[in-house]
Amino acid sequence: MKSLNRFFSALLLSLAATSLFAQQKVTIPIETGRNALVLQTDKNNRLNIVYFGRKLTQPGEYASVPGQYRQDDGNAGIYASPYTPSGTVSLSEPAIRVTHADGNTSLELLYQSHEVQQLNDNVTQTIIRLKDPVYPVEVTLFYKVYRKENVVEQWSTIRHQEKAPIVMHKYASANLYFAAGQYHLTHYHGGWAREMNPETTQLKAGILSLDSKLGTRANLFQPPTFQLSFNKPATEDEGEVLLGTLGWSGNFKIDFEVDSYDNLRLIAGINPHASEYPLEPGKEFKTPSFLFTYSDKGKGEASRNLHDWARKYRVLEGEGSRLTLLNNWEATYFDFDETKLTGLFADGKKLGVDLFLLDDGWFGNKYPRNGDNAGLGDWKENAKKLPHGIGYLVKEAQKAGVKFGIWVEPEMVNPKSELYEKHPDWVIRQPERPEHYFRNQLVLDLSNPQVQDFVFGILDDLFTKNPDLAFIKWDCNAVIYNAQSEYLKKTKQAESKLYVDYVFGLYKVLDRLRAKYPKVPMMLCSGGGGRVDYEALKYFTEFWPSDNTDPLERVFLQWEYSYFFPAITHCDHVTDWGKQPLKFRTDVAMMGKMGYDIVVSHLSPDDLKFSQQSVETYKSISDVVWHGDLYRLVNPRENDFASLMFVNKQKTRSVVFNYLVSNRYGAGSKIPVKFGGLDPARKYSVKEINLYPGKRSAIASESVFTGDFLMTAGFNPVVNNGRTSVILELNEVK
Ligand code: GLA
Repeated sequence: MKSLNRFFSALLLSLAATSLFAQQKVTIPIETGRNALVLQTDKNNRLNIVYFGRKLTQPGEYASVPGQYRQDDGNAGIYASPYTPSGTVSLSEPAIRVTHADGNTSLELLYQSHEVQQLNDNVTQTIIRLKDPVYPVEVTLFYKVYRKENVVEQWSTIRHQEKAPIVMHKYASANLYFAAGQYHLTHYHGGWAREMNPETTQLKAGILSLDSKLGTRANLFQPPTFQLSFNKPATEDEGEVLLGTLGWSGNFKIDFEVDSYDNLRLIAGINPHASEYPLEPGKEFKTPSFLFTYSDKGKGEASRNLHDWARKYRVLEGEGSRLTLLNNWEATYFDFDETKLTGLFADGKKLGVDLFLLDDGWFGNKYPRNGDNAGLGDWKENAKKLPHGIGYLVKEAQKAGVKFGIWVEPEMVNPKSELYEKHPDWVIRQPERPEHYFRNQLVLDLSNPQVQDFVFGILDDLFTKNPDLAFIKWDCNAVIYNAQSEYLKKTKQAESKLYVDYVFGLYKVLDRLRAKYPKVPMMLCSGGGGRVDYEALKYFTEFWPSDNTDPLERVFLQWEYSYFFPAITHCDHVTDWGKQPLKFRTDVAMMGKMGYDIVVSHLSPDDLKFSQQSVETYKSISDVVWHGDLYRLVNPRENDFASLMFVNKQKTRSVVFNYLVSNRYGAGSKIPVKFGGLDPARKYSVKEINLYPGKRSAIASESVFTGDFLMTAGFNPVVNNGRTSVILELNEVK
């Protein structure tokens, strides 16, 4: 009670004090090359978002924006907070909610100061300090702006100087506020082998949340990734749209709340579900990054901006190159030995790929990994399958002329394993309850530093023994059931830290790994795209979007992923899934990072010849696909076919991919496709590439057109049931 009185009198005092400065409003414009997010203090020294959108030519005029709004009864002043506290005057969904050391649950955040740091020519960081006037709790908001790419990376830090720990119940990364007539949200849902199904819905009054409580493999049902259109649904080339995503490889929650003024509040961060987090005095908690880009010129521009940012600033080796590979998973599953594998190395060489990737099934002795029910955790070569060990395979692959890579799933354990027998306390489970398995396995407790050492050790050991190891596929197939940490319990830490400390533990391992092995390419896999996000992609060069490699499905799946992730990051493999011809399967794999998962020796002579040519062709166009600008031209959800093109930055070369997605009578490209991204004044030759042996193109060879013609009148790639996939290459003609 005493503390409550103290709280209220201090609050009154502080309000009185701040009202003295009522006239001195602070306006903080956070500007990218094209856009602005503007914050301003109010008469009580609370901070509000007062503008979001295309930037004004006169920054001085931002201060006048709030005067144009007539939405200021009762609650209005606090809806627009850039970090909504809880327990005082704000009654809406908070960004932060804490219990103080004395048990009090109120928090008020007033503006203290801000600074802008110029990190380089293109990147600035605006840092805003907020403070509770009564309790010594501080929140600092960070807005890192990538000017040219129009991308904002936003996070916050929380610290306090109370006498004992405070408990954080909610601690979001970002809190944004938008005033528009309508809000159209596209979010994604799915499951194993059916990732990234878009759902578009107009947001109406109330809260819609995207969330995951799966722990690991958190994106299995829903990723923290969305498109948000303002006023009307944006198209590729028109409309206002924000692409947003959270960089966090664990439970997330993104709330979209249409408030009583029909404005939209967005709060994104770690999911507060079962994740109360104690914070020691003087310690700082840094939230994950929320990333967004806004465009008033449609989804195409927005996603190209995000791709540029991702390649330049985020994805490991984002502007580099990638290895084509042959993977044995679908060719052999768990059934292989040295002779079979060395035969596959030769096949890889015959195909022309750079690397052979050995998938699951190479380890476990007491419990051999001959299926997905045993051996996970026992990272020693299976002596029967591989009597001479990995070292021998690396050498044999090199002899055959390909590099060697390997699959691991280091965060997991089968109950049928020596690891489980030795370290049951390393496993996330509730010892009093029956174990519940996902793919016959359980998750190791990465909040435990010993487990972190173990996981790091698996990779370190592989690299130490095999310095020529050229690629890692890091898988993560299970979700967390029965979330409980023996380690947190034993060390008397809050058990509700598990979901969060797991992810921090994972990042610690990956930090150590990258400190020692900075550049080895690594594929991020989670039984498909169950984990891809922009924090994980700091450590990984690429990701596996789905175990579904049916090329028809892939056209849709890769289309949706392409809004958020550049082509250089998604591994698309030619496999035996689906009913499409080999050419179609290959052409689809070519619009990302191509690989193979087929039995090369089963290919007919023509199929082999075609595949060899395809690898060559891919190498000749991959620079454009990996580093170019993507234009999505014809949406497969709305048409008989899909069409998308990549244009290099110099606008001298382009590759256009077209795929028939309907088998209805007469389906195909009846009218020309309007290209994008070319220089209207330049001339381009258009030729069809990657033809199957013996096939002639329906397109006159090397016709020349202006960029203007190709973009304004358009060009017909002649897609029909006799030509279900068509790749065109454009080259500038001087
Ligand atoms: C997951 C991956 C597959 C393959 C298997 C191996 O399902 O997504 O690509 O590696 O595991 O068990």
